[in-house]
Amino acid sequence: MINECRSEAYRAWLRYEKITDQAWLDENEKWLKSVMSLQESKIRQSAIAELKHALTALTGSEPKVEDAESPYQLWLVNSQEQLVSVDKHLFDGLEEDGYIIKTLNDFDEPKILIGANTERGLLYGSFHFLRIIQMGVSLSELNSKNNTKNELRMLNHWDNMDGSIERGYAGQSIFFENNQFTKNLTRIKDYARLISSVGINAVSINNVNVHSIETRLLTAHFMEDLIVVAEIFRDYGVQLYLSINFASPIELGELSTADPFEQDVREWWQQKVNELYQHIPDFGGFVVKADSEHRPGPFTYGRNHVDGANMLAEALEPHNGHVIWRTFVYNCLQDWRDRQTDRAKAAYDHFKPLDGQFKENVILQIKNGPMDFQVREANSPLFGAMKSTNQMLEFQVTQEYTGQQIDLCYLLPQWKEILEFDTFANGEGTPIKHIVDGSTFAYAKSGITAVVNIGNNDNWTGHQLAQANLYAYGRIVWDPNLTVEEITDEWVRLTFGDQPEVIEEITWMLLQSWSIYENYTSPLGVGWMVNPHHHYGPNVDGYEYSVWGTYHFADHQGIGVDRTVKSGTGYTAQYFEENQKMYESIETCPDELLLFFHHVPYTHELKSGVTVIQHIYDTHFEGVEQAIQLKDRWYRLKGKIEEEKYENVMNRLDRQIENARQWRDMINTYFYRKSGIGDEKNRKIY
Ligand code: GCU
Repeated sequence: MINECRSEAYRAWLRYEKITDQAWLDENEKWLKSVMSLQESKIRQSAIAELKHALTALTGSEPKVEDAESPYQLWLVNSQEQLVSVDKHLFDGLEEDGYIIKTLNDFDEPKILIGANTERGLLYGSFHFLRIIQMGVSLSELNSKNNTKNELRMLNHWDNMDGSIERGYAGQSIFFENNQFTKNLTRIKDYARLISSVGINAVSINNVNVHSIETRLLTAHFMEDLIVVAEIFRDYGVQLYLSINFASPIELGELSTADPFEQDVREWWQQKVNELYQHIPDFGGFVVKADSEHRPGPFTYGRNHVDGANMLAEALEPHNGHVIWRTFVYNCLQDWRDRQTDRAKAAYDHFKPLDGQFKENVILQIKNGPMDFQVREANSPLFGAMKSTNQMLEFQVTQEYTGQQIDLCYLLPQWKEILEFDTFANGEGTPIKHIVDGSTFAYAKSGITAVVNIGNNDNWTGHQLAQANLYAYGRIVWDPNLTVEEITDEWVRLTFGDQPEVIEEITWMLLQSWSIYENYTSPLGVGWMVNPHHHYGPNVDGYEYSVWGTYHFADHQGIGVDRTVKSGTGYTAQYFEENQKMYESIETCPDELLLFFHHVPYTHELKSGVTVIQHIYDTHFEGVEQAIQLKDRWYRLKGKIEEEKYENVMNRLDRQIENARQWRDMINTYFYRKSGIGDEKNRKIY
């Protein structure tokens, strides 16, 4: 049963507010009174439960669920079912998770077909049908086929078993507390519903930094719990994955080594994997952070990533399981005086030479940028650089460097830009979206994943409007060709209803927010300048003399990281020629990434015509003004949206303004003091 008595905020975009448009109801309600379904699979039950729950809420009356035809029905039909009345050709062109939604007007009393090849497709089709209704579309002429572009549509949790969440900004874990699994399974089920409604089909539930208690997730001790969680997800078409500790055989006290070349170690993993699959036959596989930020890995034994990943892949292979091996590997003990080592180069340098050596069931998980989820950074040059190795993209929905769900930062515009970026990996017209969907180099398996932004806060995401990031992530991963406007419009209407002013203001706020956040934080792609450890708020030199490889190199004359071949670290050479040329030259390097690629004087004139220093001042003053505008806009909605949601956002906007001021004044003051160049407009700098 679906939990009905929860708060507005908790119900997120699955609120199903009662339809008030009488004309629409008069025309369309006839299709919402009866659902016909002939099968009884678990996933089908989830779909039917959702339809029943939603249609009841939307129309005020509960639909019947029938196994025989009657006038004006909603039909759930799997192409494998022998249902004479449906033309099998309607299913042509549907892929595994795809669905068709079509009004069958050949009948005297037309039906609406939700059809698919798989039960999962029917579930996605049902959720989409409910979206169509809420978008106010007439049901009399529906005819759409919808296939996903990405086979793997995943979320990574960075949850620890003590209940804390690494980089979590919305409370504690919904899976774990006190080093145990939670007893609150309803919450997990509601989460499974929420993410499957936007097409997510895989989830890893524990932090990539696998500490000691989490290492035991692989043991009999937690098996019963894992079985239960896997089942909850399974009913919503979501496959369970675990992050594993490469040194598990040692840390669980069973072997003295984790060397992938040792037969004992290989057999140990095989046995562990066999046990897992005995209990969870559709288990997805392992996510692995190895030889990265002090995590153990094959390097300890003089082996490389291929050796490590393939050992696990060998164990998972007989069960169709996958190894998702992260490429976030770099020297995190760098000497800041060393100007040749460039963290941005690390992933490519480590992995590119290994192309073609990984097993078919290994997928490399590559962060969108070569550094770490900054508000703006270059795109990873690894995308498309490995033609014979499965690749997937990793985004960060949780706002570690983008305001921590205190500041509003809607990330869909950023993701869209990244997905559309032309890598030239296979000549012009090879955007990242066509690398990671597997279409360019025919990867055996690929897709997109992201570090998720939810916790046990009542509204899931801390900031009410941060729900938009989760929604948008699912939708853009399902189909990267959807536009930012389409997805945003859906989310706003589903979450806040259809009052035009509400839609207009919230849409504006969301669409401006990334650029606002960028304006008042680190400039022109240079990144960082955040407080060490927790990463919120400004600290220009916070990482400047650290071991982390994240520098801006500002001195009294200029700022930026020279990553050119000509005079810098040589990073630009990792791109395909067209991009290499574009970034190598100051003339063609886009302004927004100028300081990521070049070290320039403060007096350098940008394409916009202003100097770098003036740009820094202008954007920082503007950023604060814009943050204040966000609040003004929100204030106009007082009384027009539910009180709890209103207050939640208002409270955060106040904190955002404070944070923006802090950034503005620290950045402007810092650069004024360094450069000695004043603001042309004589605004207040300290
Ligand atoms: C960032 C983040 C860490 C995380 C790491 C990762 O560095 O700050 O908390 O563990 O990324 O992606 O593995």
